[in-house]
Amino acid sequence: MAGARGGHRLILALETSCDDTCAAVVKAGTIRSNVISSQAAAHERFGGVVPEVASRHHLELVNSVVDAALADADATLSDVDTFAVTRGPGLIGALLVGISTAKALAAATRKPLVGVDHLHGHVAANFLEPDALEPPFVCLIASGGHTLLAGVREHGGFEVLGQTLDDAAGEALDKGARMLGLGYPGGPAIEREAASGDPGAFEFPVAMAQGPGLDFSFSGLKTALLYAIRNLGPERTEARLADLAASFQAAVVEQLVAKLKRAMKDGEWPAVALGGGVAANGLLRARVTELCADRKLRLKLVAGELCTDNAAMIGSAAQFVEPTAYPGYLDWDARA
Ligand code: KG4
Ligand code: ZN
Repeated sequence: MAGARGGHRLILALETSCDDTCAAVVKAGTIRSNVISSQAAAHERFGGVVPEVASRHHLELVNSVVDAALADADATLSDVDTFAVTRGPGLIGALLVGISTAKALAAATRKPLVGVDHLHGHVAANFLEPDALEPPFVCLIASGGHTLLAGVREHGGFEVLGQTLDDAAGEALDKGARMLGLGYPGGPAIEREAASGDPGAFEFPVAMAQGPGLDFSFSGLKTALLYAIRNLGPERTEARLADLAASFQAAVVEQLVAKLKRAMKDGEWPAVALGGGVAANGLLRARVTELCADRKLRLKLVAGELCTDNAAMIGSAAQFVEPTAYPGYLDWDARA
């Protein structure tokens, strides 16, 4: 394993793969600072993330976010031993802002740089103190861009056990919320509306629940919601909004839980973790808590700000990836 716990290096990490501009300082598995500047308000009126808008906001925000991360950690640039940055997957223009900034900071100080896979970052959020989770475990990562089951046997990487064949779970919630006129980001909006609704009121398909594999699919569910809205018409849709939101949310969560259950079936994995923005969902947390209690599995639920995109998770992953010495990283570009 490359550099377990990073040899107690002070790591400054950057994450700009989507619409959050993030920088963090991590040392020996402990968060010294974790600064997140959300651009959600800038994208709200478009009902989703606009790549060009995201890149421009990252450019405006990145320097002050880095300064804030250093100040919160009571550190200066010269205290940093290693820099880390998300190389992908994500929006190319957005990633490049973080990568160029990290390269410039590392090169100016002739320090090493670690390129981190974004999904490894979501897994590595679980390695952070307090209560760091040790492999082996299964991590369900569900966000606006990704939905997958990661089998984690070592700190330095993971195996993809199953993943979405079309939309991500968060993307389905975002699109569903837009169809229901509930605003962006859709997951929290649907969860709020669902609180007063009946999850059994509409029968939306729980795709792939019977299939033998561990892959996911959410595009059929989106179409089912569209037909339900068309059949009801605008007035009855408005009147049944809470029931529609509750039933739609339940169908998304039930599919995630069905696949997680299947992954845990043969008792190979002693622990479960959740990551990605959708892991903030109360129903999903409750259902997975039940599942783990039933099967006597350890459940790790990190704080909300470590579920959604952040740079502390990138710093955490960087502890277990071999750094690249100066000037080896100067020609790095983004990995879509
Ligand atoms: O991990 P994340 O911040 O960004 C990436 O997509 O990588 O995840 C954002 C996604 C959005 O689709 C948002 O609607 C969803 O997470 N989300 C939620 C909740 N909070 C955020 N989905 C369901 N329930 C929530 N409470
Ligand atoms: Zn993410």
